[in-house]
Amino acid sequence: MQFVPLAPLRNLDEGVPVAARAQGREFLLIRYQGRIRIFDARCPHAGQPLSRGTLATDRVRCKGHGFEFSLADGRCLNQSQCPALPSYKPVFMGSSVGIDWA
Ligand code: FES
Repeated sequence: MQFVPLAPLRNLDEGVPVAARAQGREFLLIRYQGRIRIFDARCPHAGQPLSRGTLATDRVRCKGHGFEFSLADGRCLNQSQCPALPSYKPVFMGSSVGIDWA
């Protein structure tokens, strides 16, 4: 396993998206219902930054064209043609959360 840290856990408040950069990519971290979710930070539709999107109870809405993505699994909720938002399994090490870059 190659642990890549993305953020200290203390920086992740419920429902507040946090952007992070690692390995030349951008990630979006969201604590949702007490669990940490990690997604690509760019919308799969046309690449707008989802850190500027709006959060509803169970979804993030892209400001670009209004596509909404599930915080549970990244699937697009209001456009059948849009691919899912890639998500990553969080890995915890000490007081940080990150991903396994294996
Ligand atoms: S860029 Fe996100 S909905 Fe179009």
